[in-house]
Amino acid sequence: MTRVVCPGSFDPVTNGHLDIVRRASRLFDEVVVAVLVNESKKSLFSLEERMDLLAQATEDLPNVSVASFRGLLVNFCTEHGISAIVKGLRAVSDFDYELQMAQMNGSLTDVDTVFVPTSPEYSFLASSLVKEVARGGGDVSGLVPDFVLQRLDREFGRA
Ligand code: PNS
Repeated sequence: MTRVVCPGSFDPVTNGHLDIVRRASRLFDEVVVAVLVNESKKSLFSLEERMDLLAQATEDLPNVSVASFRGLLVNFCTEHGISAIVKGLRAVSDFDYELQMAQMNGSLTDVDTVFVPTSPEYSFLASSLVKEVARGGGDVSGLVPDFVLQRLDREFGRA
């Protein structure tokens, strides 16, 4: 049985993230979506909210679960019997840093990294941009699930 992890901040989850999680769930037996707890980074949504939104967004995928982790991702992998990290690549610019992290993680443990190319319709998508556009009153429907849209509207005082 192959268990993999899709790690990230997910502040908030976007359709780009979900595209990668969904495809990973077809390729591997079990997928753990792991939300990084990063006390030094200010997030819009709390850890609980980010995990709740992810759980809602993946509720139709029986082999996907949601967890959180602190510290090194490879330690989380070792503790949870995870053999590979799945990462989406949006563009060549992602590759530089992702390759470096994959090689660092590979040097620390035998946890491998699998890159999945982002579907073209999501290649420009990032949580940070979604928040910026939503904060400015722009339309981000189609980029996030409806219930995330509602949370963004509430957060930015439009609901
Ligand atoms: O959604 P993000 O913020 O781009 O996700 C980045 C994340 C969480 C995947 C990455 O920062 C990470 O793996 N952090 C955990 C700390 C760690 O293991 N650092 C060493 C990387 S080589």
